[in-house]
Amino acid sequence: MNATASDTLDLDALVQQAAESFGQAATPADLENAKARFLGKSGHVTALMKGLAQLSVDEKKTRGAAINVAKQAIEAALTARRQALADADLERQLQAEALDVTLPGRQRGQGGLHPISLAWERIEQIFGSMGFDVADGPEIESDWFNFTALGNPPNHPARSMQDTFYVDMSDDEGHPYCLRTHTSPMQIRYATAHARKHAAALARGDMPEVRVIAPGRTYRVDNDATHSPMFHQVEGLWLGENVSFKDLKVTYLNFCKAFFETDDLILRFRPSYFPFTEPSAEIDIQFQTGPLAGHWLEVSGSGQVHPQVVRNMGLDPEKYIGFAFGSGIDRLAMLRYGVNDLRLFFEGDVRFLGQFR
Ligand code: DAH
Repeated sequence: MNATASDTLDLDALVQQAAESFGQAATPADLENAKARFLGKSGHVTALMKGLAQLSVDEKKTRGAAINVAKQAIEAALTARRQALADADLERQLQAEALDVTLPGRQRGQGGLHPISLAWERIEQIFGSMGFDVADGPEIESDWFNFTALGNPPNHPARSMQDTFYVDMSDDEGHPYCLRTHTSPMQIRYATAHARKHAAALARGDMPEVRVIAPGRTYRVDNDATHSPMFHQVEGLWLGENVSFKDLKVTYLNFCKAFFETDDLILRFRPSYFPFTEPSAEIDIQFQTGPLAGHWLEVSGSGQVHPQVVRNMGLDPEKYIGFAFGSGIDRLAMLRYGVNDLRLFFEGDVRFLGQFR
């Protein structure tokens, strides 16, 4: 009987079995366990080697050589499987850390001005080009400048149109302080300072005209889609010896054309009431083209400065006459940028704010 042939068959089967076990090992730990079963101290190959002891010298040689061949085949299968597992692991890691070198690089986000600041700057620039000075004044304002000097004494019903926040403080004459409800107090502050600065010229009768805008923050007890407790206004004042309502119309129309960058708009001066102007008018704007075409939109209060207000400025109303206006900067910005909810301006969402340049 040919013992060698059947032994070889056993060894081939063993190699086959080892290769299969290695192939089934899904992790390096599984593979080490499988290795122990075939090549370990009490594994199949070791057992075969031990069996050699009972054989004759000649048989030992052939059988020993055959076992060695099988052992090398098993070791080769083990190495191959180790490599395959390591390759698969590396592949997984590369996939997980995949890097797309064609993506654009990360840049530092570019900042920009808030849309209200953009509108504010445009307003200053446009009126500046028409010879208007730009003035700035306190947001915590005395009752005198905010109301009384503007023909709005305590208990005057018009005060209720501008409900505000009061501050627990009063000025030297006992007028309480409040958060200013409009930029109109700047009319008195600026004109008074102007008259003082040009006192000599005023006495000679040739004081330069008062021509100023005063943009700034204003406050009221209001909060909805078109009103915020903090909002922005720009006051305009032009006083001289012969400044008329016609000048107001031309000035405001030119401003609107420049601000909205279109000639396709018309203005309407709608009679109204303010305690510091007589006559008074609301200025409505209508665009002839674009999404808002055909609608009248209120943009400003205005009027001829009331003689008593001129007197409160320290000027003679028989000599100085002119107009004033007070416009909502937020309102102008909403119209210019097509924003329909005022609150968006004050929520600080960069997805919204980043759309304006
Ligand atoms: N101050 C007024 C307001 O906030 C707006 C206004 C109306 C201002 C007429 C003016 C003016 O200068 O002449 O409602």
